[in-house]
Amino acid sequence: MRVLLAGTAAGGGFPQWNCACPRCTAPGLPHRTQDSLAVSPDGRGWYLLNASPDVRAQVLTHPPLAAGPGPRETPLRGVLLTDAELDHTLGLLLLREGGGLRVWATEPVLGALAAEFPVRSLVSRYGDWRWSAVAPGEPWELGEPGGRRLEVTALPVSAKRPKYAAAAEPAADAPWVVAYRLRDPVTGGVLVYAPCLARWPEGFDALVADADCVVLDGTFHSAHELPGATADAVGGGAQRAMGHLPMVGPDGTLDRVRRARPATRWLYTHLNNTNPVVDPGSAEHAEVRAAGAEAPPDGTEFEL
Ligand code: MLT
Ligand code: MN
Ligand code: ZN
Repeated sequence: MRVLLAGTAAGGGFPQWNCACPRCTAPGLPHRTQDSLAVSPDGRGWYLLNASPDVRAQVLTHPPLAAGPGPRETPLRGVLLTDAELDHTLGLLLLREGGGLRVWATEPVLGALAAEFPVRSLVSRYGDWRWSAVAPGEPWELGEPGGRRLEVTALPVSAKRPKYAAAAEPAADAPWVVAYRLRDPVTGGVLVYAPCLARWPEGFDALVADADCVVLDGTFHSAHELPGATADAVGGGAQRAMGHLPMVGPDGTLDRVRRARPATRWLYTHLNNTNPVVDPGSAEHAEVRAAGAEAPPDGTEFEL
């Protein structure tokens, strides 16, 4: 399977357009577009994991996603959504010129994209869009009939809903957010993509146990870095409510990485502009590397 980190920033990107903090205004730091991962079983057809508001720039920047070989052909075959957040779904609107794609998402996410953010009815006027419900735990396959395939499974992560869908049904413990595990049956390569981790979910250790690579939520370095976040009993207040485990601290993900088997490659994505790790020269970036993880730039490509 081929893997391309098309975008590695959280909502707003890096630098963020309305932020004049020292990091966002520092010259020379590599820009990051909003989070999206592209995978391909055969190097010809590609599937986007999340549809970033930067999808147009990502397609134009990264050669594997470029239009062709026919004059109106595209290698994009479908989109898998981990959640309904705007930074993961706005790109669907920007893909409307393509004539339609297959989209996989859980029922709550498909519901939000029909009601609160009616992207499904909007894009359906422009092409042949197919929407498939993902049932967590039930594997299915991506790929062309008769060609190379990828096996996919979704693991429920949390019931964290987007702000715009705060009043949406179903509430409680519905799978609003999932992680995906993709396996290439020919090479045996396993990739896990989990850009939105409100907690270390039950079953996640098993999901990553045989993974060659885990692409992980790297939104925040610490629990209190978001401007305006209030420290309270649950630690992190407004920031914690956003549903992203920090890298460091008592329930930080870096400790999990340190304890994991060395054969797994851990890559952080969805980095917020407040996260000092976006600066490759920072002490925090060095700390990530020392723990055995990476925060690679947009455009990073590899095979599993
Ligand atoms: C998130 O990842 O928590 C959301 O994308 C935040 C947002 O931009 O609304
Ligand atoms: Mn986000
Ligand atoms: Zn900033």
